[in-house]
Amino acid sequence: MTSINERPSPAATANGTTHGSAALYERALKVMPGGCSRNTILRKPHPLYVEYGEGCYVTDIEGTRRIDFANNMASLIHGHAQPEVVAAVGAQLQKGTAFMMATEVEVKFAEHMCGRNPGFEKIRFVNSGTEAVMACLKASRAFTGRSKIAKVEGAYHGIYDYAEISQTAKPGNWGDAEQPSSVPVSRGTPPATLDDVVVIPYNDTERAIAILDEHADQLACVLVDLMAHRVGLVKARDEYVNALRKWTQDHGVLLVCDEVITLRATYGGAQTKYPITPDLTAMGKMIGGGFPVGAIAGRADIMEVMNPLAEPVLFPHSGTFSANPISMTAGLITMRLYDQSAVNRLNRLTKMARHRITEAIEIAGVPACVTGGGSMFRLHMKPEPPNNYRDTFASADEARKLKILLDHAFDNGIMLINTGSGALSTAMTETEIDILAQVMLEGFRKIKQA
Ligand SMILES: Cc1ncc(COP(=O)(O)O)c(C=O)c1O
Repeated sequence: MTSINERPSPAATANGTTHGSAALYERALKVMPGGCSRNTILRKPHPLYVEYGEGCYVTDIEGTRRIDFANNMASLIHGHAQPEVVAAVGAQLQKGTAFMMATEVEVKFAEHMCGRNPGFEKIRFVNSGTEAVMACLKASRAFTGRSKIAKVEGAYHGIYDYAEISQTAKPGNWGDAEQPSSVPVSRGTPPATLDDVVVIPYNDTERAIAILDEHADQLACVLVDLMAHRVGLVKARDEYVNALRKWTQDHGVLLVCDEVITLRATYGGAQTKYPITPDLTAMGKMIGGGFPVGAIAGRADIMEVMNPLAEPVLFPHSGTFSANPISMTAGLITMRLYDQSAVNRLNRLTKMARHRITEAIEIAGVPACVTGGGSMFRLHMKPEPPNNYRDTFASADEARKLKILLDHAFDNGIMLINTGSGALSTAMTETEIDILAQVMLEGFRKIKQA
């Protein structure tokens, strides 16, 4: 294992240039807008291109190795190329990758996932978290016969028109805190979409309920992420979650939890930490074991809207690659390996990481803090942990400081998510946490000097 003194550093492991990546990016710019299909891979002056990943390490084409705290946006719970997943997927590849026939592995995976949480009475698989959230919203509409949805200001739920509203709201357009505006993300978003999305503040029960009351008879569901990443990676307060559950029950509105990221927090998802059961849950990311996936699970009577054997079918639902045997195989092995003891070990390790980074902040004496829970952390260049999206929103100075920190981390062998967040994998040990803490301390000192 790597010790602090021999930690991977570009200077030590690469020839000091990134010519190969620069040349590839030049070619990419000619054929893709922005030179990519996915904005999160971008870096200035150009992205770096990956050669291979192994456990919690990733090596780029220049030969530089970094510890991967991004884990493909929190989707690789066991890191890269987990041997049992590789073997099982390899065997399935030989047998075929997609069929217009059912597969046993889909049934096994559905049984496994339903066994993880009693609230997952029935499940269906799709190909991404975006699709899972979309299916939850459409199922809620089909079940209730109503069209509006409510969501939390700033929360990211993928790119379905309705789910993305307000996700990039800014001080200039987010409106009054009592009544947050429905802010479109993409130009040309239909005005009717804006009207059909009710935006509520996070962790502010009184305001959220007052807003919901205004739309009570038109709402199909309230969509909530119990530790929304873009909102600040702060846990939803018990009182807030309980109030949303009670209000939705009282008004015949469904409660939908987006656990695309937070499912990793416990064996059955972050929702099991609260005394509530959502009606539907959207999942994705880690349950694909590194392959594209999403899932919708929840109450059997609601899931029934997707039943193609019913008459009439309230929400016809299908997808060419849904439940393909590669994603199902990788997902099944991955989730079996992510058993209760793996969850506990990873959460302990991440708690240690949050503690060590907090220590580094204190030693360096910078106004910063760490939020998170389960196997995630997020850094804020603010003295106090934020409570909601508006608190989390970084000022120009905070954004500048975060960039210094992220660049320092990247140049010293640590890959983080561009919001300053980390999602750990079970491939990590205390060694990687030591390196992280040391690099963060240097980074915070750099910020202080700057
Ligand atoms: C909470 C949450 N929901 C939904 C999504 C969308 O998932 P996907 O990128 O697989 O479409 C994401 C993606 O980052 C997410 O973080």
